[in-house]
Amino acid sequence: MSVPTPSISRTLSLVANDLVEVDKVIASRLASDVPLVGEVSRYIISAGGKRLRPVLLLLTCGALGFTAPQRHNLAAVVEFIHTATLLHDDVVDESTLRRGRATANESFGNPASVLVGDFLYSRAFQMMVETNNMRVMAILADATNVIAEGEVQQLMNMHDADLDEFAYLRVIRSKTAKLFEASARLGAVLAGSTAEIEDACATYGQALGTAFQVIDDVLDYAGDAGELGKNLGDDLREGKVTLPLIVAMQRGDARQRELIRSAIQTGAVEALPAIMDIVRKTGALEATLLAAQAEAQRAVDAARLLPVNEHSSALLQLAVELLQRRQ
Ligand code: IPE
Ligand code: IPE
Ligand code: MG
Ligand code: MG
Ligand code: MG
Repeated sequence: MSVPTPSISRTLSLVANDLVEVDKVIASRLASDVPLVGEVSRYIISAGGKRLRPVLLLLTCGALGFTAPQRHNLAAVVEFIHTATLLHDDVVDESTLRRGRATANESFGNPASVLVGDFLYSRAFQMMVETNNMRVMAILADATNVIAEGEVQQLMNMHDADLDEFAYLRVIRSKTAKLFEASARLGAVLAGSTAEIEDACATYGQALGTAFQVIDDVLDYAGDAGELGKNLGDDLREGKVTLPLIVAMQRGDARQRELIRSAIQTGAVEALPAIMDIVRKTGALEATLLAAQAEAQRAVDAARLLPVNEHSSALLQLAVELLQRRQ
């Protein structure tokens, strides 16, 4: 696993032993008679990643007192689903760097990435069927479907310079926040919690996941590729309209607005430095961070409905820490 930022790593220490178990499940369930399946999936999984969705599920289980080993299997399931989305996402986004190394599509090609992504999705489904729990299956099936819908919606929104904040939020709630929501909700379902607690967990996960993606979209403009393990500028390059650009267009003058519009429509890489400059000078990044903060606050408000213990405190802390993330 790559080294997390110090503050996040303090929160993670609470579930460090659980994560070792989750990684054991992941390793054992990557088994396949087809060598390329193991090769590609181990390539991306061994590169690390923050394991945030498993952490969310495990912290929620901890906060609600569910301690059976089943939680490790389901944590591995959400990480498999996440990894499958990354394999497909990097093909769609034509990205070349992930987790500090060449993307799987760059190393093995698009066909291998797409097909191994399919393997991971279907392995996740085999594992969730083993739980014999219809609620668990329904939550994960819905989440996977909504993620795919979000990615397709985003594809349809490409190069649309009139995209507004509402349409942007709709996409990120689907493509990213849904799996966070499902991970937190599963903790409550496993623990047999009341409907109120389950709702609070789902709201927490949704709000946290939304904040997380908003920050990701800031980092695409203002992060450090070395720390992030991904290239900057991928979003503009593919004509993807994210909140920093929406705000920069609202705040910029007519000339700046026109420059951004045409870059969105053409995905012109040569305009990237000028656009980055406008995004910074108009204060769009700070305004975008405020939007992320509001979502994180919504997550905190929801987590306050959970029983007070060290795991629920960690959930509160996570909402603050993710705002400061650089990777
Ligand atoms: C990347 O997610 C995809 C987004 C939703 C932005 P993460 O940043 O959680 O990816 P890893 O697993 O840590 O690499
Ligand atoms: C998140 O969006 C992708 C998924 C949820 C599949 P991005 O395309 O911004 O993610 P990164 O930046 O490539 O990790
Ligand atoms: Mg991407
Ligand atoms: Mg993408
Ligand atoms: Mg991104």
